[in-house]
Amino acid sequence: VKRVMLRVGLVAAILVVAAGSGLTGVALTRWDRTFEGPYPAIEATDDAAVVEYGRYLVYGPMHCAYCHTPKSQHEALDAGETPPLVGGYTVTIPPGTFHMPNLTPDPETGIGRRTDGELARILRHGVRADGRAAIPFMEYQGMSDSDLRAVLSYLRSQPPVRNPIPDHELTFLGKAVLATMIRPKGPESTPPATSPPVAPTVERGRYLAHVAGQCVACHTERSLTDGRFIGAPLAGGMHFPNETDPSIEFVSSNLTPDPETGIAGLWTEDRFVARFKAGPALPGSNMPWGAFARMEEADVRAIYRYLRTVAPVHNDVGPTRREATR
Ligand code: HEC
Ligand code: HEC
Repeated sequence: VKRVMLRVGLVAAILVVAAGSGLTGVALTRWDRTFEGPYPAIEATDDAAVVEYGRYLVYGPMHCAYCHTPKSQHEALDAGETPPLVGGYTVTIPPGTFHMPNLTPDPETGIGRRTDGELARILRHGVRADGRAAIPFMEYQGMSDSDLRAVLSYLRSQPPVRNPIPDHELTFLGKAVLATMIRPKGPESTPPATSPPVAPTVERGRYLAHVAGQCVACHTERSLTDGRFIGAPLAGGMHFPNETDPSIEFVSSNLTPDPETGIAGLWTEDRFVARFKAGPALPGSNMPWGAFARMEEADVRAIYRYLRTVAPVHNDVGPTRREATR
């Protein structure tokens, strides 16, 4: 089965529309401008329990692995394997060719070159090690200090794999987008020191839905020019272009508890759990089902219980796999 662009599809669509919207007159000398961003005081540890929880986040709810492995490994990921995070997944769109970096600790081609502060800064504040703004593929700015530490600890624990990854190759349009639109994005409020423990609680579910699992990022309608939310959070309706078959597109479901149109209204908790355990179903879907299939059952129940508490929104998104409209 051909695999997907995940949210890469969303960011790619936004960059393409932004690039097409008349940005060409700008001062291109600004595309490589740098930004100040604080270095969070987060340090990796080799504590085995912390490393193991970090691995759970990276391959499970936070689905980092689907971007930081080449596409050729996505079937292995779907099958529950843990291929190393060697990077090399590449997306080519009008603004440029974007390469996902190698996250193994190789000292020349991976994160062995980076300090913990640099790694924490790109995740929390969207500033790359060289000071440029990160292309906004990652929206984990609100993750807790303890989760950030667990993720860094897992990344540092991996065996190093040498795999040189080029920097992004930007076209004229891409430079225009970077010069004008892309600024580092930090957390909306001070992130918590710790996140709620794995347990079927509403608090844990809220954290997974909004931060770690990124459900809100995909299950909310967003502007294609700057990514801001234009629909009700979790009410679905975001369109995702399909990388392998441009004649179809996926549309994210309404997850609110509306009894007629929302998943948390239409499905029982057990059906929701069973769907997550089942893993990928629609070939090419943008949703990282293979990662979410690894979630602890308590985490899946937590998400459902949280979804039951949000305001129901009546929004019939129609078939979630359909002929492309744009
Ligand atoms: C949707 C795709 C996507 C997902 C999911 C994703 N990343 Fe990334 N990541 C990227 C891209 C693209 C870059 C390069 C950003 C840039 O250079 O503008 C990057 C860069 C990084 C870097 C900087 C590497 C370096 O050499 O400085 C780190 C660290 C990182 N990601 C960690 C993570 C972790 C941890 C997760 C999960 C919590 C994650 N990423 C999830 C796409 C993704
Ligand atoms: C990268 C984008 C993305 C992320 C992240 C994402 N989803 Fe989805 N989701 C989709 C798309 C697109 C569909 C429709 C296609 C499909 O069913 O695979 C979907 C479908 C669903 C469905 C409906 C399945 C069905 O059979 O009708 C559920 C339930 C769901 N998502 C829940 C979640 C939850 C909970 C999270 C967070 C843990 C989440 N999604 C994160 C994009 C995403």
